[in-house]
Amino acid sequence: RTNPVTDKLNRPLRDLRISVTDRCNFRCRYCMPEESFGPDHEFLPKNMLLSFEEITRLAKLYASLGVEKIRLTGGEPLLRRDLPVLVKMLSEIEGINDIGLTTNASLLKKHAHALKEAGLHRVNVSLDAIDDATFAKMNGRGLGIGPVLKGIEEASKAGLKVKINMVVQKGVNEQEIVPLAKYFRGSGHIVRFIEFMDVGNSNGWKLDHVVSKKEIVEMIDKEMQLEPIDANYYGEVASRYRYKGSDEEIGVISSVTDSFCSSCTRARLSADGAIYTCLFAGKGISLRNPMRNGYSDQELTELITDIWNNRHDRYSDERLTATNNGKTREKIEMSYIGG
Ligand code: GTP
Ligand code: 5AD
Ligand code: SF4
Ligand code: SF4
Repeated sequence: RTNPVTDKLNRPLRDLRISVTDRCNFRCRYCMPEESFGPDHEFLPKNMLLSFEEITRLAKLYASLGVEKIRLTGGEPLLRRDLPVLVKMLSEIEGINDIGLTTNASLLKKHAHALKEAGLHRVNVSLDAIDDATFAKMNGRGLGIGPVLKGIEEASKAGLKVKINMVVQKGVNEQEIVPLAKYFRGSGHIVRFIEFMDVGNSNGWKLDHVVSKKEIVEMIDKEMQLEPIDANYYGEVASRYRYKGSDEEIGVISSVTDSFCSSCTRARLSADGAIYTCLFAGKGISLRNPMRNGYSDQELTELITDIWNNRHDRYSDERLTATNNGKTREKIEMSYIGG
């Protein structure tokens, strides 16, 4: 029933990351700094957002082209009302066998059970520090880690698989790498350390703010010995390691120092219904407009096939040369596309 498509670099289409809102209740310095996302910032008006029916319709068409995995993102996806309703609709699509959610978990405690019941499999929780003061500073809202830990606990109780995502920034939270690893060791939750990326135009990225995969692994290995293990599947974003002599693992996401574009199978749908073929794309291609102008399923399928067939993005592979040339380009903001 599926009709798999590939892009110009022969990469199949496997994952659809769906942003359900461009709003967030945090103001992480590296993502939505208060100066650019203050009280006057204009978020998308409601009529521009895709409805759950529109999202589901597109997800079905994507599933027919090979997508098996869906990840809901934001901004903060739990700010979208009735999210479990959407999860339920997506879980009924034939061919979709993994539905995940990437969240800051501040509101997760309240929603975990309903999400699990609706068919969510996994949550990835962003948590950049285990030290309250560091975390409070990084999220731009002075919020401590308490609510996040409660959210993680409740998700786990509800039977959701949990991963923890820590974005590492040199001079900001690198001292939290080992404590965070230690804190979650034995919890059953996989911690993934993420190299700080130059997403968007407002996060002031510089190469020397990056702590490399190599450095991260060395820091942890000094305290708790690590060994590399194989990827779970083609195109997995994180490199996996386990603590020697155990089956507990961590991951490192090294988009900067060891990029993974050659196996990138991800399409991204923004909250207002545009498709981005790369996290670093300058602009998306609207599916909302054709959909609202009456395109049939077949016409939409042709359009999304065409978009994937013409895809040749490999931004992270090209980043270092571009950075060295001093070239910059417009990029979509992270909060608009969900990472
Ligand atoms: P799993 O399905 O659990 O492996 O999740 P994931 O790692 O695919 O998604 P998640 O939302 O947890 O993202 C973790 C980090 O990986 C974030 O910093 C994302 O921005 C980054 N990431 C995910 N996909 C890509 C990608 O295609 N390119 C780049 N450069 N970074 C990505
Ligand atoms: N570099 C790396 N990861 C980032 N994220 C947000 N901004 C960046 C960045 N500049 C992460 C979030 C979340 C995921 C979707 O992306 O912390 O875990
Ligand atoms: Fe919100 Fe996540 Fe961006 Fe932080 S990184 S501002 S939690 S969307
Ligand atoms: Fe995929 Fe673009 Fe990320 Fe490369 S930089 S892995 S092409 S999303």
